[in-house]
Amino acid sequence: MERPIGMFDSGFGGLTVARAVIDLLPHEHLVYIGDTGRYPYGPRPQEEVREFAHQLAWSLVKEYDVKAIVVACNTASAAALDELEAEMPVPVIDVVAPGARALVGATRSGKVGVIGTVGTIGSGAYDKAVAATGADVHLTSAACPGFVEFVERGQTSGDEIHILAERLLAPVHDAGVDTLLLGCTHYPYLARVIADVMGPDVTLVSSADETAFVARDRLRAAGLLRAPGGEPAEHRFLSSGDISWFADLGGRLLGPELRDAAQWHHD
Ligand code: DGL
Repeated sequence: MERPIGMFDSGFGGLTVARAVIDLLPHEHLVYIGDTGRYPYGPRPQEEVREFAHQLAWSLVKEYDVKAIVVACNTASAAALDELEAEMPVPVIDVVAPGARALVGATRSGKVGVIGTVGTIGSGAYDKAVAATGADVHLTSAACPGFVEFVERGQTSGDEIHILAERLLAPVHDAGVDTLLLGCTHYPYLARVIADVMGPDVTLVSSADETAFVARDRLRAAGLLRAPGGEPAEHRFLSSGDISWFADLGGRLLGPELRDAAQWHHD
């Protein structure tokens, strides 16, 4: 099945999921759109994020003929997943349910935490997703406004971000969680800072790997996996913002597959 997998995020965050998908499914073609022209999604009303998600998903289907869509953004998953699942003609894979499963699977004490954007945390999507696992855990949530902006600027360490992290992580730190889910796909790029603030006893988990496994299983079940052995897989990256910045920072964050980027326009 030669059609690509489509992925989108508000910007660079979904590249953490793209990395996992490329590593797990090296033969698959991929089209990734980073909506850097309109990031951050976190502070925006759900209605607006839903509209953006709708535009991105339909663009992937109509213009790039993708065989599945990975919503590599928690904020967009929280706002639009139900609607996308109902209306898209291809399988839609989100990051929230896989993240919740990874979280409850990793805890020993049952005290778990999730951090995400204001939109994600405010939506209650993780409360629902964790409850849906049926695991006997206590979840503490904290929104981390500002983290995404640091990553989009390419700033992933330093005093400024450390001070912000100490303040924003206080609720999950004080709750004594033993496992913390990075419930925003940008946050793995801040994992060193977050781990430093949370301390060595707290396990950080991200949804990237679990989401890649779900993508593989869904594609396999639908008979949509691409067979190995043909032309090398093609990875295309698009951005609604400055494409030279997307190629530059994206290449540093994702790795050599992201050598250049093309412009994406929404209608
Ligand atoms: N990476 C996105 C997420 O997982 C959100 C970033 C944003 O606020 O734009 O929620």
